[in-house]
Amino acid sequence: MDEMAMFTLARVLHVAGVVLWIGGVAFVTTVLIPALRRLPEADQRMDLFEQLEGRFALQARIVTVITGASGYYLLHVLEAWDRYQSLQFWWMHLMTAIWGIFTLVLFVLEPLFLHRWFHEQAKIDSEKTFARVHRMHKVLLSLSLLAVAGAVAGSHGYQFSFL
Ligand code: HEM
Repeated sequence: MDEMAMFTLARVLHVAGVVLWIGGVAFVTTVLIPALRRLPEADQRMDLFEQLEGRFALQARIVTVITGASGYYLLHVLEAWDRYQSLQFWWMHLMTAIWGIFTLVLFVLEPLFLHRWFHEQAKIDSEKTFARVHRMHKVLLSLSLLAVAGAVAGSHGYQFSFL
């Protein structure tokens, strides 16, 4: 496979990964968590959340690796590392930061203590805990959508030259 084809493949994998990943985050934020918050039983809420988001977390881990690796390859072929030095490429910073946050949460914080913390907090006050988790998901989803918008515009030549 020549470099041009490899580059195209990396771009395809990158975008497919982003669609699956951010699409999943959107579903959890706008459909799953609101539905769970309406369930009257706190125990049932927690059980369902575990079952459903647990499956998504595995998928998200795989997709995070694919998106990160393909992104790294794109950056390498484009020799675009110096973009990190310019504010005009804020979407590169945002993309990378979001990837970093998800990697930290999914691979480090969640297995280390976030899972346990969530259980403990939900036992103390289920409504408040789910409201907090919902808020965090909303923030991450908004930032992710902003990154997607900026990255598509930027990748296709739009210059954010006012920055
Ligand atoms: C380590 C993490 C990441 C790196 C190194 C990275 C790198 C890149 C690079 C180099 C490009 C091509 C830019 C160009 O053609 O000028 C790109 C495109 C793109 N990235 Fe990322 N990215 C990463 C994570 C993400 C994340 C987390 C998202 C979603 C929130 C994302 C969404 C996109 C989108 C939508 C495009 C535009 C594709 C297109 O329209 O062709 N990336 N990325």
